[in-house]
Amino acid sequence: MKRAILAALGLATSLAMPATAEDIKVGLLLPYSGVYAALGNDIDAGFALGLETFGAETGATFEIVREDTEVKPPVALGKAKKLILQDKVDVMAGIVSSGVLGAVRDMVHGAGVPLIVANAGNDEATGIQCSPYITRMSFSNGQVNRPMGTWMAEQGIKKVYTLAPDYAAGRQMIDGFAQTFTAAGGEIVGQEFTPFQKTQDFGPYLAQAKASGADAVFVFYAGGEAISFVKQYDSFGLKADLPLYGSGFLTSALYVNAEGPAAEGVITALHYVPTIENDANKAFAEAFTAATGRVPSEYAVQGYDSARALVEAVKAGATDRESLANALRQVSFDGPRGPLSIDPATNNLIQPIYVYETIAGEGGLTQKVLAQLPAERDPVNGCEMAPVSN
Ligand code: PHB
Repeated sequence: MKRAILAALGLATSLAMPATAEDIKVGLLLPYSGVYAALGNDIDAGFALGLETFGAETGATFEIVREDTEVKPPVALGKAKKLILQDKVDVMAGIVSSGVLGAVRDMVHGAGVPLIVANAGNDEATGIQCSPYITRMSFSNGQVNRPMGTWMAEQGIKKVYTLAPDYAAGRQMIDGFAQTFTAAGGEIVGQEFTPFQKTQDFGPYLAQAKASGADAVFVFYAGGEAISFVKQYDSFGLKADLPLYGSGFLTSALYVNAEGPAAEGVITALHYVPTIENDANKAFAEAFTAATGRVPSEYAVQGYDSARALVEAVKAGATDRESLANALRQVSFDGPRGPLSIDPATNNLIQPIYVYETIAGEGGLTQKVLAQLPAERDPVNGCEMAPVSN
């Protein structure tokens, strides 16, 4: 807007010029209540730290409007509409649940509002349902779990029983794992999907896993469900005979200490663990702990990197929905996860995956990296990336 006025006055301005004194209105669409509330709050804290750390370089001001998805797709769709039509945000960030991302995708794409996905791994949002307006600063469900299928088969594990909540993320995470595990000669001897946000008692499922003849169990659970699952797995007495593996959200640094000793020895894979050693992670971890009193989790780093991506886009001269969408797809920087780049074919991140074991450390449970698996890029999964329309 200001750029247009300057141009009309004949005051030259170029797209490469940093936006000075620009107001950028950001809609943060996160679960602040429900089973993923802690995850939403950690992304929010990471986002705030990212803006505080890098935002001043732009000269822009960032106004934040927060809306609670409650982890309910219809509620989230209503909130997305409000942010887009009523608040007229320039950009949206957030979204934790793959179900919520699936629900708001058409609205976001149709309205031409850039969305920085700060968690939800829904494979379709960077696959068959991809959009030039949707850029991911988190992970995709397949990306996190495919490397683990191969790695577990290489460790000599032959038969696995799988469990996950019955919604898009649970199904896609298990699919990703099962694809590579079976390709490497492994066998899935049983599989259940538990009612999402409704299952309190995992006992019946654990009894089935025990009777299945599996060598190991592989699961995806996150947030409150992860805490209940890990505790019940241990109290059921399964851990010693039937080792527990999963995607790394199961034992996230955000709530692993709420799981307590039940989490010790669980082996999982993820795109970030707070114990990664590099300068950017050291600076981030120190600042995040100073601000919140917590060790940063994958959720915190996704929020932080989302804010950094927005800042980079604004520094590249973007000021409105279209220029922001274009610039966001092109950002790259060295973050706490290492060098980050976005695959132009899908707008998903390309990043390494870490296999880690939860072990007892000095200040509580910590993450011991067992393997760093090479940078993982998703297949295009039917994505035909259209240009941002003008
Ligand atoms: C998702 O629904 O995509 C999702 C939710 C929580 C996680 C990871 C993925 O920790």
